[in-house]
Amino acid sequence: MWENAGLDRSRQHSGVTEKVEAPRTLTEELKAGIRDAYAKLQANTPGFSTRRSQSQMIGVVSRALGTGGVGVVEAPTGVGKSLGYLTAGVPIALASKKKLVISTGTVALQSQLVERDIPNFLKNTGLQATVALAKGRTRYLCTRNAAEAQGEGSQEGMFGDEAPLYDRPLAPIEMDVAEKLTKAFIEGKWNGDLDNAPEPVTPTLRMRITTPASACAGRRCAYSAQCPVLRARTEVRDAQIIVTNHALLLSALSLGDSDSGQPLIAPPAEMLLVLDEGHHIGNVAIDQGAATLPLDDMAKRTGRLQILIAGAYRAVDKDKLGNLLPNEAIEVAARVSKLLKAFRDEIAQVWIPQPDEREPMWRAANGRLPESWRQPIEVLADETRTLLNWATAAASAVAKGKQDDPAVERLQRNLGMAQEMVEQQYNLWAAGAARTRRASRRSRAGSPCRAMATPSCTARRYRRRWCCASCCGMRSTRW
Ligand SMILES: Nc1ncnc2c1ncn2[C@@H]1O[C@H](COP(=O)(O)OP(=O)(O)O)[C@@H](O)[C@H]1O
Ligand code: SF4
Ligand SMILES: [Mg+2]
Repeated sequence: MWENAGLDRSRQHSGVTEKVEAPRTLTEELKAGIRDAYAKLQANTPGFSTRRSQSQMIGVVSRALGTGGVGVVEAPTGVGKSLGYLTAGVPIALASKKKLVISTGTVALQSQLVERDIPNFLKNTGLQATVALAKGRTRYLCTRNAAEAQGEGSQEGMFGDEAPLYDRPLAPIEMDVAEKLTKAFIEGKWNGDLDNAPEPVTPTLRMRITTPASACAGRRCAYSAQCPVLRARTEVRDAQIIVTNHALLLSALSLGDSDSGQPLIAPPAEMLLVLDEGHHIGNVAIDQGAATLPLDDMAKRTGRLQILIAGAYRAVDKDKLGNLLPNEAIEVAARVSKLLKAFRDEIAQVWIPQPDEREPMWRAANGRLPESWRQPIEVLADETRTLLNWATAAASAVAKGKQDDPAVERLQRNLGMAQEMVEQQYNLWAAGAARTRRASRRSRAGSPCRAMATPSCTARRYRRRWCCASCCGMRSTRW
């Protein structure tokens, strides 16, 4: 167990000096609040016993969260870590008007905290706090997309943009499920949380009835009044205790306010952060920071963008979008598609996975990619930047257009998805062009996929934001 509370938090790295809040002090009032919570727990929890290590831990967590520092605790499962950090964290959060954000590595622990540990803690201590579970968008129904998915196939897209970004149309049974889910939601029998969906949801259907941030119209959406995503966001915004997962927490820290202008969880300076199951965070951070790309799939989907591009110009009635004429934008998409295919062939010159390799992985010797890759990667970085600028400009121009028009909303959704897809490509090639550390490729479902990771960029980005939050990491050990 170690702690580093009240550490010097003014740091300089990469030429950036961060100004962060001066260390706070743990006042007598706060200490009294924590002691009081502990005494009530003792009195009201059947079988409660004083555990020396738990008391020690409450001290470490109190100093870390109460003074703006960092504490790390490692102890076996079942010794009382959750109860320990709640005893310290909840009184401090309530007194300082900050949010206690508890991030975990597994869904099981999130459910246990929200359904059992936190309600029991609040009941036994008599403390009052609002609690919310923060999850990613793709775990909630997008009512707009679900409505569209039901009539898919029968719809004539006004702008000729129908479903160019999907691999296959929905099967009749999937459309039927979309209809049943929508009905259950409208009748108030289900709250739109896909983790408790009353019908089985296939991955393809899930993709169709959820929406990424870039394809969501937010408050301008005709369905926003009943939207499960927006409702969940509001609950999180108003909650004093927020339980979340490491992946969403890291997205929130790296995206900042970019999800429809709202912080995904809370601004870092307002967070008192507990990382439960902290041993998972390294892998999650690497996954989050890595850029991956299924080349074959992306080449096909980018090649199909021309229909969407033509639809966007028709919808906004403009000669240029993102400084490009219609034929210029179509040519960029065609070039990117061709380059992706050519790069896939280039990689095949170096390595073809063996059929019996379970997780095929190719690593560049000494982290250096073959010299012959440098030029195609740079060209792909340039071309995808141009395409991304176009998609961003087109999505924004269409968003300013006619409200409450299903055809425009549909086009907006498809442009949002295109933007997300091209951004995924740009992230990889730009990172590769700047400083590629590693290249790997995997074979998945017969479709080769290549991935490159740039952990150094990610670490820098997180460091800037992390310094704003008070933090306590937790790790279980097996004895
Ligand atoms: N001091 C204590 N005395 C008795 N039971 C406790 C004490 N602290 C925690 N518990 C109980 O032990 C179980 C495990 O506690 P928990 O905080 O979830 O442990 P951990 O997070 O270390 O796995 C819970 O049922 C909890 O109510
Ligand atoms: S607000 Fe966004 S998530 Fe909600 S229904 Fe509309 S598009 Fe879907
Ligand atoms: Mg625990």
